[in-house]
Amino acid sequence: MPPQISVLDAGGQYCHLIARRVRELGVYADVHPSEVSATALAGRKGIIISGGPSSVYDPGSPDVDPAIFSTPSAVLGICYGHQLMAHHLGGTVRKGEKGEYGLAFLEPTGAAALFGGLDRKESVWMSHRDLVTAAPPAFRVLARTETCPVAAMVDDGGRLYGVQFHPEVVHTRRGQDVLRNFLFEICGCEKDWQPTHQIPEVERQIRETAAGRNVFFFASGGVDSTVAFSLCLRALGPERVRAAYVDTGLMREGETDFVREVFEAMASGVFQVVDASEEFVGALAGVTDPEKKRHIIGEEFVAVQERVLASSHFMDGQWILGQGTIYPDTIESGGTQKADLIKTHHNRVAGIQKLLAENRIVEPLSQFYKDEVRELGRAMGLPGELLDRHPFPGPGLAIRCLCSDVEDTPQETEDGWIIPVRSVGVQGDSRSYQPVLAIDKQPTEELALAATYLVNRLSTVNRVMAVAASHAHIGAMKVSRAAITEGRLARLRKADATVRRLTATSGLDAIVWQFPVVTIPVGTTARPDSVVLRPVDSVDGMTASAVLMPRELLDELCTELLAVEGVCAVFYDLTHKPPATIEWE
Ligand code: XMP
Repeated sequence: MPPQISVLDAGGQYCHLIARRVRELGVYADVHPSEVSATALAGRKGIIISGGPSSVYDPGSPDVDPAIFSTPSAVLGICYGHQLMAHHLGGTVRKGEKGEYGLAFLEPTGAAALFGGLDRKESVWMSHRDLVTAAPPAFRVLARTETCPVAAMVDDGGRLYGVQFHPEVVHTRRGQDVLRNFLFEICGCEKDWQPTHQIPEVERQIRETAAGRNVFFFASGGVDSTVAFSLCLRALGPERVRAAYVDTGLMREGETDFVREVFEAMASGVFQVVDASEEFVGALAGVTDPEKKRHIIGEEFVAVQERVLASSHFMDGQWILGQGTIYPDTIESGGTQKADLIKTHHNRVAGIQKLLAENRIVEPLSQFYKDEVRELGRAMGLPGELLDRHPFPGPGLAIRCLCSDVEDTPQETEDGWIIPVRSVGVQGDSRSYQPVLAIDKQPTEELALAATYLVNRLSTVNRVMAVAASHAHIGAMKVSRAAITEGRLARLRKADATVRRLTATSGLDAIVWQFPVVTIPVGTTARPDSVVLRPVDSVDGMTASAVLMPRELLDELCTELLAVEGVCAVFYDLTHKPPATIEWE
């Protein structure tokens, strides 16, 4: 049976969000590249064409097979999808200069099933440059906004809809109702999706793929690989699954014990800790260049994983590799490129390459989104403490412990103090390392607003941070020569554990998406390091905004952090991504 709904990815960051929203309404949806043929989509009740950054007039811009407009499937074009529909069917798309980004008010000009139950004037989220100025022949205009003459349209048959706004984002207040109308009133879908009901089928597939062989995992302690492991354990039993966890010595406080407990609670004897901390920390000794640090960690992972594969008979034909790959990682879109980047060190392991080439691999989560993975984990009894944890980067604390190969001093400018440490940013297409601007003021909404503006204007810094608390004035601080040492890691571990404890009790950790705690080699002789707080809000890590916290909590954090041995100041990173990144390296 084909899925009832398919979403065509026209290059927008929203295509997975659309599919997730459809699934939240209880209807399974999958994602395809926009050019997929109408024949391959046969049998769908509905097709949704996503938004995207292109113009229908750009050469090589994403297109769809025009035959999809004359099949029995209903079609909903969103934003770029709306323009594409108008363009193919004889409407007019005007090239926009400035565009419209943000909230707009939708004024209905005619009744339609898509807007059933909505108020006369609804607020919707717009993000577009080009716009449809005339609907195709045999179409009716359903709504306009101040700038869009054709903000929504429908064909005479009531099967083809186009909307300029984004129903899938939360800022479109009744967006989920619009999607609900499309699914149930227009396409005639039936509810067929509840992730936890899939568990027996996923278990069956695991048994089928394993075909009598066993499954082993390189566990990271993250949500995906742990839930994937748990599914394999249910499907195959404790005799046939194993997990190896590499302790790099770059872990947070208590991390290895926590992961061991989670796995031991699932089944005893299936989990093995490979202690490689001396190797990792040893290989990083004296290294200060951020990209070199990452490279060394990647190399060490490769070496340790090869060793585990060779020593445990995992290559003897009786084993296949389990991975926690989730749905967005399997589709060619923006999300994938990032995933490829992050997981390179896994794919470079020769043994793993061999297993991949021989198709000896099982990925039980390949059809699920992150929220659905959490639901599966919950249904299988995994602890909330694991399922709700923030993402944590593979290279661990190493990329949060900044280093320096020179001694230097902060420079005062009219905008604040330039602190000569190397922090990464994403101005333009590539990662670049630049100093940071510290402003000797408390973190406020106003300063956060100014931060992006300042980074753009100065173009010599990647970030702006406020000074939350300090033992010394910035002018009296210096940058010292520093690499990764056990002592500096212990300091960072302590600061990180302090932040995690206080944000857990205050409830802040539940509302931020991630909260890196970073140490930079900036301070005084007695207190050579400072702590940077980096709480962010995000949906998928691709973009993020800096988050402020209640004053009381910040005061409490500062008091405890300034009491940590060797810590001189507490800074607060106020920069969004872009122009900064979430992590500092
Ligand atoms: P950035 O710093 O690029 O981070 O804004 C985006 C997200 O990716 C995580 N991240 C990593 N995760 N290995 C990982 O497993 C890595 O090398 C890595 N680098 C960044 C980061 O924590 C954030 O969630």
